[in-house]
Amino acid sequence: MLTLSQDTLLEVRHCGKRYDTRTVLDSVSLTIRQGEIVSLVDPSGCGKSTLLRIVAGLDRNYDGDILLEGVRQQGPSSRVGVVFQEPRLLPWLDVADNVAFPAGSRQGSDPRVGELLAQVGLANARSSLPKHLSGGMAQRVAIARGLFTNPDLLLLDEPFSAVDAITRMRLQDLLLSLVSGRKTATLLVTHDLDEALYLSDRVLLMTPTGNRGAGHIAREIAVPGGRPRERNGSWLATARGELLDSLGVSSL
Ligand SMILES: Nc1ncnc2c1ncn2[C@@H]1O[C@H](COP(=O)(O)OP(=O)(O)O)[C@@H](O)[C@H]1O
Ligand SMILES: [Mg+2]
Repeated sequence: MLTLSQDTLLEVRHCGKRYDTRTVLDSVSLTIRQGEIVSLVDPSGCGKSTLLRIVAGLDRNYDGDILLEGVRQQGPSSRVGVVFQEPRLLPWLDVADNVAFPAGSRQGSDPRVGELLAQVGLANARSSLPKHLSGGMAQRVAIARGLFTNPDLLLLDEPFSAVDAITRMRLQDLLLSLVSGRKTATLLVTHDLDEALYLSDRVLLMTPTGNRGAGHIAREIAVPGGRPRERNGSWLATARGELLDSLGVSSL
């Protein structure tokens, strides 16, 4: 399953995590190549956020290694952007200052902000406070903030789970165009199989099959065809059937 190649960006090597006596992650290994989009799917909720926080450098208490281009990561890095499940905007900062927050407080006049806000369709909202934004707009600000440092790797933890279905599809397409245009490698955590298949080059299926039910990567599926894909093409039914079979769910 672990395939290292010259353009490997991220390598997660035998990552394990315990909370007290409880093992939550059991020897999780994965790689992501430069510019690749990989989804981590785990319908049962067994350690996705834990793994993402470790890769983001936000949790340093784990076993194993997180390497970026072969260099062991010791904490958060400007080369890695993060988008959480909730937008997590600072309510007292306007949109521009929130986008530029990785550079420090009140850095909204940074020229990169205008470009990013235009790319996420919020050029007219730069002075708005978060309380005046819809859920979809707030998450677009969070995506812009995640890309502010022009990271090589963007991590997203169920980023679209709180928005309505149409907004979700729009945000999926926005994400796809942003990371494809910048060739940003992306690790997307989602419990939505169709979302994973639509967006990704590969889908990693995580199940509680490891040590005493700890999260473990059970299966990897290469999604056929290039991006962007047809949302409802015949490829989707085939790939979804393969994933459901892996989960022991009949696709008929
Ligand atoms: N800080 C913590 N202390 C103890 N247990 C935790 C903590 N954070 C998460 N867990 C447990 O670890 C397991 C995996 O959590 P999490 O990574 O949030 O899963 P997921 O994101 O896949 O839903 C859950 O059973 C959760 O209760
Ligand atoms: Mg989670």
